Amino acid sequence: MLVISSRFLYNYCIMEKKYFIVTYGCQMNVHESEKLSGMLREMGYIGAKDEADADLVVFNTCCVRENAENHAYGNIGNMKKLKKEKPDMIVAVCGCMTQQISSAEKLRESFPYVDIVLGTFNMDRFKDLLKEKLESKKAVFEVLDKNGGITEGVKPFRSSFPNAWVNIMYGCNNFCSYCVVPYVRGRERSRKTDNVYSEVSDLVKQGYKEITLLGQNVNSYGNDLKDGTNFASLLNKLSDIDGKYRLRFISSHPKDLTEDVVRAIAANEHVCHAIHLPVQSGSDRILKLMNRHYTREEYLDKIKFIKSVIPDCAVTTDIIVGFPTETEEDFQDTVSLIKQADFAGAFTFVYSPREGTKAAAMEGQISDEVKKDRIMRLVEFQNNLNRGESKNYNGKTVEILCEDFDEKKETYTGRDEYGRMAYFPYKTNIIGKFVNVKITAEGGISLMGEVVGVID
Ligand code: 5AD
Ligand code: SF4
Repeated sequence: MLVISSRFLYNYCIMEKKYFIVTYGCQMNVHESEKLSGMLREMGYIGAKDEADADLVVFNTCCVRENAENHAYGNIGNMKKLKKEKPDMIVAVCGCMTQQISSAEKLRESFPYVDIVLGTFNMDRFKDLLKEKLESKKAVFEVLDKNGGITEGVKPFRSSFPNAWVNIMYGCNNFCSYCVVPYVRGRERSRKTDNVYSEVSDLVKQGYKEITLLGQNVNSYGNDLKDGTNFASLLNKLSDIDGKYRLRFISSHPKDLTEDVVRAIAANEHVCHAIHLPVQSGSDRILKLMNRHYTREEYLDKIKFIKSVIPDCAVTTDIIVGFPTETEEDFQDTVSLIKQADFAGAFTFVYSPREGTKAAAMEGQISDEVKKDRIMRLVEFQNNLNRGESKNYNGKTVEILCEDFDEKKETYTGRDEYGRMAYFPYKTNIIGKFVNVKITAEGGISLMGEVVGVID
């Protein structure tokens, strides 16, 4: 007679279950979803193809800008119908939106079919809360108001080979006046260099080819460790990991980008010559109101220094338009800064007031109409600059890391070390390989070409 223990039966049931994670926001969140995936797979869950196919749907939210938040509420709202059809389905909401007490309350009151609400400081408790929910059937809310710590040992289920993300720190101490991150992610805390080192070297051994170090402001890495460690020393330490791979990092606060960091980038052959250096505005008056602690001139001097040490460095940026009191003149200062800085790319955002931040309470909020007009002019201006730069690639051979296959275009895709996207056909699967691509055409901000050599 076959005897099956109840524990086995329980695990067996779990093994049949499927999960689906919807992620909003930046790479930091995408990587956090990979960690949630890792926890769920450890519990025996497997991936579902969409929400309707899933027994557990997780919304990993972002509240940095209003549209990401609205999007999340809309999608969580859509679960009501699905929950009626599948009452046993579990809906969980986590990420920085839930860390705001008002949002957590809104979820509790207006979305009663949500089963689990979990803040950012206790993400590693997700497994326990899910078990609690499965056992008790009651809704579980756990949003802590104390600063989070660092959890080592959660094994992410990575979804973007040959790229991998590695957190080097969490939280932010800067309190830029428009930004909600310090309120929902807590104060800065750095992972120990040895832990970062072993994660990166394991990834390289497993064949990952591009590793992106993550932090809200990587330049203040190590400040809290109080042992002399800093971002430059981390980059220097990582340089002894052998292999053919690239290192990138995001994001950098201009006030904290030191000459040592720039020199460490230049000295470590694996680090891409690419720095994402959000400027936010080109107007000194607005930068002051934003609490950014640098002037336009100091920012441009940083770029000058970067280019003097790393002449081919691609500098990209983030820009906010429509910050409270921004005049047409302030906006024109941003446009002229873009011309002067010669950015390789820019992410442009319309200012969105975030509850609890200083800027949200400022007088002189800008109308949606003016914000829209400014963002459209800025994007158009920036696109023209990028198109000009693409032309410089024509006929050149560039080293590209092949990252994906584009089903629609039926070509492989990848990026050069500066982050520029390229499309190229090939006869066999070359995802995860560095290839030399001869650029034959440029299409807007991307490149097209043919593979003239497979490197590794
Ligand atoms: N409104 C618009 N953009 C914002 N960002 C952060 N907070 C806001 C906000 N309230 C942008 C900044 C930052 C990027 C990640 O998001 O440009 O660098
Ligand atoms: Fe937000 Fe400023 Fe911190 Fe970046 S540095 S996360 S913009 S507070």
